[in-house]
Amino acid sequence: MKIYRAKDYNDMSRKAANLISAQILLKPNCVLGLATGSTPLGTYRQLVERYNQGDLDFSEITTVNLDEYKGLTHDNSQSYYYFMNENLFSKVNINKSKVFLPDGTEPDSETACQKYNEILHAVGVIDLQLLGLGHNGHIGFNEPADFFTTETHCITLSERTIQANARFFATAEEVPRQAYTMGIKTIMSAEKVLVVISGEDKADIVKKAFFGPITPQVPASILQLHRNAVIIADEAALSKCE
Ligand code: GLP
Repeated sequence: MKIYRAKDYNDMSRKAANLISAQILLKPNCVLGLATGSTPLGTYRQLVERYNQGDLDFSEITTVNLDEYKGLTHDNSQSYYYFMNENLFSKVNINKSKVFLPDGTEPDSETACQKYNEILHAVGVIDLQLLGLGHNGHIGFNEPADFFTTETHCITLSERTIQANARFFATAEEVPRQAYTMGIKTIMSAEKVLVVISGEDKADIVKKAFFGPITPQVPASILQLHRNAVIIADEAALSKCE
């Protein structure tokens, strides 16, 4: 596990975009695992800028997203599909038939998860998986639990996650209570993982996740065992790891 210290949010975003750009340049038809949340926004902005400058080509890329809220349609502005479309897919020359997220509109959890697993198996190994970090150590929507999850599953969100994500909704009541998420085993199978983390509010969990014991109660702690994990965190997020 390599930890890179970024000066601030912009520096973190630029460093993360450098790594993703290198991945795309080295393997133009790679599979990128993508993440939502506010942290990767700057990284996506940088990627779009590089695409606009003519330095990146997304035409052969396949993407698989970590998660999606159960019950939200693509045109719901809180859905992760909408987020990805707004912040990346609609702004670059990506082939929309090669972008995948769990289907939040599928009401039957088993069917939704099985379908997404089939997609993940068909696209093959993820070359680079981008991740954010939840305040309770969740990655994707893999919440603290008694065991590490394997493949795509339906999760009931913890109260902490609902409160943290309520900032994107009009009220906390509107935050969906369930989501479909890629499992830990799939994330761990990626060739490389890249975690972006910013802000003092993440400092405690950064210390726990990457310097504490490996436990499913802190799902991100498993990344300590990944053979090619890169953490890019800003000074504020690393402030308790001195
Ligand atoms: C959500 C997403 C996660 C993300 C987390 C942190 O719960 N499902 O993938 O990492 O939020 O979000 P933020 O980057 O906004 O702190």
